[in-house]
Amino acid sequence: MKALVVFYSLEGDTKFIAETISEELDGDIVEIKPVKQIPTGGFRKYLWGGKQVMFKDKPDIEPINVDLYKYELIVLGTPVWASRFAPVFNTFLEKYQIENKKIALFCCHGGGKEGKTFVDFKEKLKANDFVGEIAFEDPLKKDKEDCLLKAKQWIRAIKKHL
Ligand SMILES: Cc1cc2nc3c(=O)[nH]c(=O)nc-3n(C[C@H](O)[C@H](O)[C@H](O)COP(=O)(O)O)c2cc1C
Repeated sequence: MKALVVFYSLEGDTKFIAETISEELDGDIVEIKPVKQIPTGGFRKYLWGGKQVMFKDKPDIEPINVDLYKYELIVLGTPVWASRFAPVFNTFLEKYQIENKKIALFCCHGGGKEGKTFVDFKEKLKANDFVGEIAFEDPLKKDKEDCLLKAKQWIRAIKKHL
């Protein structure tokens, strides 16, 4: 089974989980990179990011060289922004039609849980089969080892049932 992990990460938490899952799947991994990253320091990131979510922005992203056709399982990972997925996924999902795939979703949040993140993904990706979802609380700042283990166990269980 060919698997792909697609993720965006502002501060590394989602990247850490994405790489862990990709290694476990022995698959491919793609990072969505906005052309213009929002500022990371202090409170400004919440203003910029929150505004992008509110206005349903589609920030320009760097070109991605991937042929989704060859993958059976696609894992999507995002940080939670204002209770939703990061706006670069609006751009990604518009550019890349994802249909008839097995989809697993994960997110990293700062303690507010996933909010509408998974609901919104499912709404946008209706023509797919959802095989799992999981949320992590700030893996790099909280319990990194625990999150690592949780991520590995989660994806192993999904793999086993496919
Ligand atoms: C713009 C912005 C909005 C956020 N909104 C939420 C939120 O609604 N709920 C929450 O629990 N965490 C929120 N966070 C915290 C991040 O989801 C959390 O720190 C996550 O682990 C960061 O992932 P990353 O390191 O991959 O960027 C927000 C962070 C940013 C930058």
